[in-house]
Amino acid sequence: MRLRPKAASLNRNRAVYWKNDAMLRNSRLSYGLVAILFHWAIAILFLGQIGLGYLTQATADDPRLQFNLYQWHKSVGFLILLLALLRLGWALSGAKPKPVAGTSVSEALAARIAHSTLLAMTILVPLTGWAIASTSPLMIPSFAFNLVLVPDLPLARSDEAEALWSNIHAVLAYASGILAAAHAGAALYHQFARRDGTLMRMFTPSRNTGPGKRPAP
Ligand code: HEM
Ligand code: HEM
Repeated sequence: MRLRPKAASLNRNRAVYWKNDAMLRNSRLSYGLVAILFHWAIAILFLGQIGLGYLTQATADDPRLQFNLYQWHKSVGFLILLLALLRLGWALSGAKPKPVAGTSVSEALAARIAHSTLLAMTILVPLTGWAIASTSPLMIPSFAFNLVLVPDLPLARSDEAEALWSNIHAVLAYASGILAAAHAGAALYHQFARRDGTLMRMFTPSRNTGPGKRPAP
């Protein structure tokens, strides 16, 4: 008899825990809080980083400012790389939400290709940037946020290698910017023209536990 209130409170705690856990993870119908936070944090940093990268090139007449912008650009780039790797691990360990109802097969395929490419670019673009810093004969150390010395990649240094990685980095970064703009446009079109809730599900964490996903009591 005396155990009853205890058992009830245990069950209540389990229910709260399970509800929170379900909000953190994706379900088959919607994104969880972790995927949503990763998406918006990386999206904002990535788009800002393209602007910052452009500015490093546009400020050549002010070497001091240009140097500072380079250091910020490298630091934010390493942060994006770290977040993108964590996000990839998280995405691989959970469910992927199905396309919203009413999406055609070709639209679903296009979205899948765009998402995978953007995901890959959030890793490849910083890696190619890191390759520029690692091949530059100037050998300027990379101090992420003035706190952590990030070692260079094991690549041979030469002006030619630096120029090659610099071109690859710029092409991938600007091409990703164009793809991200098309991706954002598609999300807005779905939300406001089709009214199918595509954009909103990237803001509202999953509350749907889905059949058979609740752990045994
Ligand atoms: C997602 C992350 C990144 C994005 C979106 C990005 C984007 C860009 C862009 C748009 C430019 C200008 C290219 C041009 O107009 O020629 C640039 C330049 C540059 N980035 Fe990044 N970058 C990223 C990460 C990094 C990282 C991690 C590093 C180094 C550790 C880095 C190092 C550089 C350098 C050294 C340049 C100047 C290249 C040159 O001298 O031509 N970037 N970046
Ligand atoms: C303001 C700009 C952006 C908007 C409005 C936007 C919107 C969205 C929406 C609504 C979804 C969910 C689509 C679905 O339900 O299937 C999504 C997914 C996704 N977006 Fe974006 N996005 C933006 C920028 C970006 C950027 C800059 C990147 C990467 C560089 C990115 C990468 C992704 C990825 C990889 C997914 C798949 C789900 C995930 O793994 O998080 N997005 N986006």
